[in-house]
Amino acid sequence: MYFDTAPKTRKEDMFEMDYLIDSLANSMGEKDVRMAVIKGLRRTGKTSLLNVSLNQTKQKHIKIDVRESPYYDRKEFMLYLAEKIKGVVGERAFQKLLKHISGVKVSYKDVGATLYIEKEKNLLMLFEQLNEYLKTKDETLIIAFDEIQLLSKIKFEYALSAVYDNYRNIKMVITGSEMGLVDKFLGIKDSSSPLFGRAHIEMETKRLSGEQINNFLMLGSKQAKTVITAKEIKEAIEMLDGIIGWATYYGWLRSKSIAHNKALSKVISEGSELTKRELDKFLSNRKKAVYLKILKWIAKGYNSWTTLKAQFVKNGRKVSDSQLNLYLTELIDYSFIEKINKTYIITDPLLIRAL
Ligand SMILES: Nc1ncnc2c1ncn2[C@@H]1O[C@H](COP(=O)(O)OP(=O)(O)OP(=O)(O)O)[C@@H](O)[C@H]1O
Ligand SMILES: [Mg+2]
Repeated sequence: MYFDTAPKTRKEDMFEMDYLIDSLANSMGEKDVRMAVIKGLRRTGKTSLLNVSLNQTKQKHIKIDVRESPYYDRKEFMLYLAEKIKGVVGERAFQKLLKHISGVKVSYKDVGATLYIEKEKNLLMLFEQLNEYLKTKDETLIIAFDEIQLLSKIKFEYALSAVYDNYRNIKMVITGSEMGLVDKFLGIKDSSSPLFGRAHIEMETKRLSGEQINNFLMLGSKQAKTVITAKEIKEAIEMLDGIIGWATYYGWLRSKSIAHNKALSKVISEGSELTKRELDKFLSNRKKAVYLKILKWIAKGYNSWTTLKAQFVKNGRKVSDSQLNLYLTELIDYSFIEKINKTYIITDPLLIRAL
C-alpha cells in the first residue's frame, strides 16, 4: 500500500522507485562497488529505498538504524554490531570466527553470550575473520547504516575506512536525514578525514513533480479504496511541494475517512510541529535568534547571500562574512535549507509554515 506511513520494506509498496531500487541492489552485487550512499532531502524516501533494496539483493545484509543502537558509546556500539553480525552468519560460524581471535568475547545485553570485545583492534580482527569466512564461501556481506551521522560522535569513520580499505567482501550502504552531516562523516570535502576519497556510488531520492504526486495520490487512493477528487489533489500538490512523505501521510488520513480539508490541515499542523521540533533540537545549542532570522528572511525571499547580508545591515545587526557563511553551512548540513545555484531554499514547505 502506497499510503502506509512507515518506511517501506516491499517493492510493491514503493511508487516510481523501481529504477533506484534495482540500481542499488544490482550495484551492491558488483565486485568493484564497495560503498553506496543514498542522498536526498528529508522525507523523500531514503530509508524506504534502503530497506527495499536490501530486501531485493540476494546477498547477506545487516541494517543498522543507528538511532536504535548505543551510538553514544564506542564500546557498546561495537558489541551491538558484533551481535548483529552474529545474527546474520549464525551462532556456529560466529563462534568459529572468534576462535581465530584470541582474547575476544562478545556480549551485548545477552547474558548467555560468550564473548566480549574489549579493544578496537579486536573489532577489526573480527572484520578480518569475517572477511576470510565470506571469501571461503564466495559471499559478500552488506552492512547498511541509516542515520550514520550519529556515529561521528564515536569516530566510527575510522573503523569503516579500515573495513573499506582491507576487507573486500564487506560492503557498506550509508544514509541519513542530515545530509550535510553524512557528507562530513564521509569526509567528502576533507582530505584529512578517514573516509576521504573512497570511491562510492550515489543514489538520490528527489522531490516529486506535481504530476508524480498526482499519480501517487490517484493510484494510492485506488489501492485504499478511497476517493480523492482532482480538485483535492490539486490543493494537496500545492501545499506539500513534492515531498512524498507528506503526500503519504495525507493519503493515509484520507484512507481513514478523514475529509480533505481536515486531512490537509492535519498534515500541515503535525508536519509543521515535527519540523519545528527538529529545528528546536538544532537550535538548542546555537544562537537561536540569528538562525531564526535567517530562515525567516529566506522564507520571505531574501534568499541570496548578498540580500541576506543586506538584511543584517538593514536591521542593525552585525555579521561578518565568515559568520554568515557558517550559519548558512550549518543550515545546509542539517538539511533545513539547500543551495541551488546561488539561491538558498527552505527544503520543506512545512518548515516555512512552522516559521
Ligand atoms: N517511493 C515511495 N512510495 C511510497 N511511499 C513512500 C515512498 N518513499 C517514501 N515513502 C513514504 O514517505 C515517508 C518518508 O519515507 P522515508 O522515511 O523512507 O524517508 P526518509 O528520506 O528516510 O526520511 P528522513 O529524512 O526523515 O529520514 C514514509 O511514510 C514512507 O512510507
Ligand atoms: Mg530516513
